[in-house]
Amino acid sequence: KIIILDFGSQYTQLIARRVRELNVYCEIYPFNNIPEFSSDVKGVIFSGSPYSVRQEDAPQIDLSRFHKKYPVLAVCYGAQYIAQQSGGDVQASSTREYGRANLNYVAADNKLFKGIASDSQVWMSHGDTITTIPEDFELIASTDSVRVAAFQVKNTETYAIQFHPEVTHSLDGKQLLQNFLVDVCGCHQQWTPDAFVETTIAALQEKLGNDKVVLALSGGVDSSVAAILLHKAIGKNLHCIFVDNGLLRKDEYEAVLEQYKHLGLNIKGVDAKDRFLSQLAGVKDPELKRKAIGRVFIEVFDDEAHLVQDVKWLAQGTIYPDVIESVSVKGPSATIKSHHNVGGLPDFMKLQVVEPLNTLFKDEVRRVGRSLGLEDFIIGRHPFPGPGLAIRILGEVTADKVAILQEADAIYINNLKEAGLYDKVWQAGAIFLPVQSVGVMGDERTYENVICLRAVESVDGMTADWCHLPYNILAKISNEIINKVKGINRVVYDISSKPPATIEWE
Ligand code: XMP
Repeated sequence: KIIILDFGSQYTQLIARRVRELNVYCEIYPFNNIPEFSSDVKGVIFSGSPYSVRQEDAPQIDLSRFHKKYPVLAVCYGAQYIAQQSGGDVQASSTREYGRANLNYVAADNKLFKGIASDSQVWMSHGDTITTIPEDFELIASTDSVRVAAFQVKNTETYAIQFHPEVTHSLDGKQLLQNFLVDVCGCHQQWTPDAFVETTIAALQEKLGNDKVVLALSGGVDSSVAAILLHKAIGKNLHCIFVDNGLLRKDEYEAVLEQYKHLGLNIKGVDAKDRFLSQLAGVKDPELKRKAIGRVFIEVFDDEAHLVQDVKWLAQGTIYPDVIESVSVKGPSATIKSHHNVGGLPDFMKLQVVEPLNTLFKDEVRRVGRSLGLEDFIIGRHPFPGPGLAIRILGEVTADKVAILQEADAIYINNLKEAGLYDKVWQAGAIFLPVQSVGVMGDERTYENVICLRAVESVDGMTADWCHLPYNILAKISNEIINKVKGINRVVYDISSKPPATIEWE
């Protein structure tokens, strides 16, 4: 495997994803919390950083732990750090070093640049630049404005580049990473979804033996893939629980339950609609709604888990970004809202936790799901918040409002599917607004509610832009909702991006 040392760059996760796209397994560690390396570490990548090496409080590491011991690829800050620590000079750059640039020199026969044209486009993003390098460094690439675009410490496998190979604007970035991984580190590019499935199933069997495990299914991708993996590993010892909180999309409970049964899962559906709705009566504040739903969920789940004799483990669909966030350079990131850390184990359950997906990124979870034979019905689903439609009904939640929103949402989503747009949109949903407005239907004046349509493009939900859905599709959806959903006489479309808005309205 490859280790990526994170100096706090916004691109660190992207480096990891690129490495994995090349079918090489890698792990990210913050520069100030590096574990002892196991014997299978084949190389180390240093990330960029928002810091300048010239700052007093800039991140520091002990280079002797890596240099000459492992192949090293240092990117941006990492490159400047090595140069500065070894007697080179790093200064604030005088010319613009952001955005596209073209190489104008590449050292012939250098392993790192194998197959890369000497005028290849690269992506720069730094305020500092390396002005001089020590004698024992060899210059291996330049651009017009950045002489030291890349160097190698002579007679070692330590390479450094000031541009960002992980960004797609560095057109040969993937080639460069592959050169490092394969030619320099000797990695075998065997880390595929199939290989992951095989080794994970074996590891789960070893870890869980004959123990019983409970898992809460949500209908989403992560918990579904986790369930199938565990099912393949331990069969009927996996007890899945799927709770109907009454806040799911129209007919979703039945459809998803059916799908899971079809997959052979040992699953129990629990109808707890009334328990949730009664606890939501009179609650208007979004955070209080979330808390109430979280609390009831734990109660229901705990009741069910207790019915499974001698259960020892709780399985969760936690994925790698959640793990990295909690140990990142910045500490648990302020950018993640508390509500995303859903779940959590109530003390009284006293179960050990098993998280088979906690090394995977979201797109990898989908690939693993495909390799496990999960259908698009589950894999291609849009993300859906744990509190469900409750946070898409602004203000108090009632059974009537849920029913109205389910109808409107179903019309919206079905139209997106029919128009071939569902898979192009990252997340879509309808929102029930707590305002009434005047309308006219036939000869009658109406005074009814408003449905807002939301559709966003995003990679991970952290930032998002509203989708420019075609007008004719929006027209059709609006017509159908107003004509078919009693209680709605107006439909609007949300054209806000995140930030400053959020994807959900509550
Ligand atoms: P926001 O509204 O913060 O949403 O832009 C970002 C992503 O997170 C989902 N979301 C939630 N997921 N529990 C969840 O499990 C929640 O309370 C919650 N709130 C928002 C949201 O649907 C979007 O995908």
